[in-house]
Amino acid sequence: MSKLLEGKIGIITGALDENSIAWKVAEKCHEHGAKFILSNAPVALRMGKINHLAEKCGTEVIAADATVVEDWERLYQTTMDKFGRKIDFILHSIGMSPNVRKGKHYTDLNYDWYLKSLDISAISFHKMLQTAQKMDAINEWGSVLGLSYIAAQRTFPDYNDMAEAKAVLESIARSYGYHYGVAKKVRINTISQSPTKTTAGTGVGGFDAFFEYADKMSPLGNASAEDCANFCVAMFSDLTRMITMQNIYHDGGFSSMGISAALMEKFSQ
Ligand SMILES: NC(=O)c1ccc[n+]([C@@H]2O[C@H](COP(=O)([O-])OP(=O)(O)OC[C@H]3O[C@@H](n4cnc5c(N)ncnc54)[C@H](O)[C@@H]3O)[C@@H](O)[C@H]2O)c1
Repeated sequence: MSKLLEGKIGIITGALDENSIAWKVAEKCHEHGAKFILSNAPVALRMGKINHLAEKCGTEVIAADATVVEDWERLYQTTMDKFGRKIDFILHSIGMSPNVRKGKHYTDLNYDWYLKSLDISAISFHKMLQTAQKMDAINEWGSVLGLSYIAAQRTFPDYNDMAEAKAVLESIARSYGYHYGVAKKVRINTISQSPTKTTAGTGVGGFDAFFEYADKMSPLGNASAEDCANFCVAMFSDLTRMITMQNIYHDGGFSSMGISAALMEKFSQ
């Protein structure tokens, strides 16, 4: 297989354990010849698993809380110092809602936690981009990705305040995609991924039921984390140079469906 990311430098956030989408993305980017830094919140680093991934990919881990601008500055500076040049791709694979985690219903949200959900899961994307642009840390034609979910467009009651977070995330990709595109030809997109069995995914109430539901609704079935990683590699590569400001469904066809024969059958029983 040809190496699509040979010579490229990146940052991959959000690899927590081997189920994380970012973990698979790191493995695939490594296979495709990229060099990159791994990053996660200090608390996630204490779990220690990410060090195994770093070893496997011949790289290092730098702690950064995605809500703290100074942490982004340090992350960019360290990455550019290590590789001696600017960055070609970044994966934002970060999401967390205290309301979801603590079982708060959407009709009884804690507003401090709501702001925290938005800050961690969405505004951090803006912080990531604005800091990069101020430091001129991304090369021309660089590619930046965020990971989203279809609850940004349609109602999935248990997705709770993360639905707003994803709507904001996708909007930032469009808005910042304009500004960074004009200024430096940097492209910014979100991938709207199928339900995936990860720590963040399974934290959402009723996850197993809607995982099965989405799988039966989608003509191709749910897209796995590994499928998502392959798609991220394609999006980081020069083969997708003219794609920007998009939210791209990577969901086996789910987003275009009304009803499937498999689900009809289930309800006809
Ligand atoms: N799993 C799914 O079903 C699914 C579907 C669509 C989109 N996504 C999105 O994919 C992304 C990755 O999630 P995942 O499913 O791989 O789960 P995951 O739990 O493995 O990853 C979430 C990551 O966010 C990190 N994080 C949380 N707070 C942070 C902070 N303040 N600073 C830096 N990092 C922080 C966590 O440490 C963790 O590594 C998220 O944006 C998630 O919403 C997931």
